[in-house]
Amino acid sequence: MDLGIFIPIGNNGWMMSQNAPQYMPSFDLNRTVAERAEAAGYDFLLSMVKLRGFGGATEFWDHNLESFTLMAGLAAVTSKIQLFASVALPTLHPAMVARMASTIDDISGGRFGINIVSGWNQSEYAQMGVWPGDWYYERRYDYATEYVTIMKELWADGASDLKGEFFQLDDCRLSPPPKGGSVPLVCAGQSDRGMQFCAEVGDYQFIIGTGDLDVVRTDAARLVAAAGETGRDVGVYVLFQITMGETDAEAEARWNHYRDGADLEAIAFMTGQASLDTSGATAEKITEMKGAFNLNIGPIVGSHATVAAKLDEVAAIEGIKGVMCVFDDYPSATAEFGAKVMPLMQSRK
Ligand SMILES: Cc1cc2nc3c(=O)[nH]c(=O)nc-3n(C[C@H](O)[C@H](O)[C@H](O)COP(=O)(O)O)c2cc1C
Repeated sequence: MDLGIFIPIGNNGWMMSQNAPQYMPSFDLNRTVAERAEAAGYDFLLSMVKLRGFGGATEFWDHNLESFTLMAGLAAVTSKIQLFASVALPTLHPAMVARMASTIDDISGGRFGINIVSGWNQSEYAQMGVWPGDWYYERRYDYATEYVTIMKELWADGASDLKGEFFQLDDCRLSPPPKGGSVPLVCAGQSDRGMQFCAEVGDYQFIIGTGDLDVVRTDAARLVAAAGETGRDVGVYVLFQITMGETDAEAEARWNHYRDGADLEAIAFMTGQASLDTSGATAEKITEMKGAFNLNIGPIVGSHATVAAKLDEVAAIEGIKGVMCVFDDYPSATAEFGAKVMPLMQSRK
């Protein structure tokens, strides 16, 4: 089973909590994570694209680096690990992204791929005046299909003359192409339409892990069925939040401490309740909000052996090709997981 890391391109990683490690994103931080990941034998790193944060006491994701330029930097200082950058389609023309990918493919010696983000969060794009309009909610995967077709034509043929519904090209050229004639594409849509898109054009589909592995099983089966329709080989990668300790109790105590420090203002913003007066909220409501402090990414909390056993269970699910990890304290957890969890995983032997 492949193992990757959702690297901390935004401040504080994926924990909206005043009790979690507080840090700004930087190249130095991400280079340290990348070097430790490579040394430990992880398979891939992926950075997201996030263009507007949630505010709150932790200024959650108000600070974010840019995905392609970060991965270009990491490509130059790593030598083995696969790298993925994320593109938010409304912000960049496909011919430019195809060329950026060819360039990072060259810098990395063929280790680069793209996470296709069709883009659903209007505020990230409206602030630049590039939100296509509300029709885009419904049509974004049709737009994405045309977008990817252009990139694939440019990489394979060096030219695209596509006259589509969303793009009109006029003998558009690209050279040099990526070394393999293309680069791997990953997609993270959770809707049926998003998964169908991935089954048609993608190489890997991300799903969001949950504590209940039956839900993971069901979501993986949706992709397996969609890929069965297109007859393409698409692997499922699952996203989990890993919190480790020497014992289960130690890991759980740390997790509870993070949750206790939940940044309610940032969570309210994320869940569209920006006007909610949390001072007047019921205890039940606050507990529910605190539960979303890690963006509802499935938590795996426990000793090294507990985490390894859970990941082995995940690996046994049909269609699963890998797991992408979110960590609390990235530099130390990247190394700790590599030294103490990976060797216990049967699915890595
Ligand atoms: C692993 C993973 C990575 C994602 N990366 C991004 C990202 O970088 N930027 C973003 O705006 N959305 C990102 N998303 C959101 C997805 O692109 C997608 O829009 C979302 O899961 C909703 O699915 P749908 O588009 O099928 O409705 C990510 C989701 C997952 C699970």
